[in-house]
Amino acid sequence: MKRYMMMLTAVALVSGMAWAQDGAALYKAKCAMCHGATGEGKIGPSLQKTALNEKQITDLLANGAAGKKAPHSKAVSGLTAAQAGEVAAYVGTLKK
Ligand code: HEC
Repeated sequence: MKRYMMMLTAVALVSGMAWAQDGAALYKAKCAMCHGATGEGKIGPSLQKTALNEKQITDLLANGAAGKKAPHSKAVSGLTAAQAGEVAAYVGTLKK
């Protein structure tokens, strides 16, 4: 039984890590050039200081928001709704 629990924990850890890496990889590929490798801000504002929560960021990425400057007046292209959620969760880890 103990061994079984350990295996379950290992599987949970590995899949959790893969999930986190997805968000990180997507962030690097699609956001870092404007928001900086650690979300410190470049062309786009710092994400370390954003007041938006994970859900609001997911919504911004998946749908865009009226009145926002490019590229966020529209949905981020090439990002599924699920991926938007993964990147948004990753952005949450950058906050300071
Ligand atoms: C072409 C450059 C560019 C890319 C690529 C880009 N952004 Fe942005 N981002 C901006 C700019 C510029 C703003 C400011 C828009 C405004 O306030 O009107 C912004 C604003 C934001 C905000 C709102 C910040 C706040 O506090 O209001 C979030 C969150 C955000 N971006 C996340 C992302 C994520 C995550 C990605 C990757 C999927 C991404 N952005 C890709 C340029 C970019």
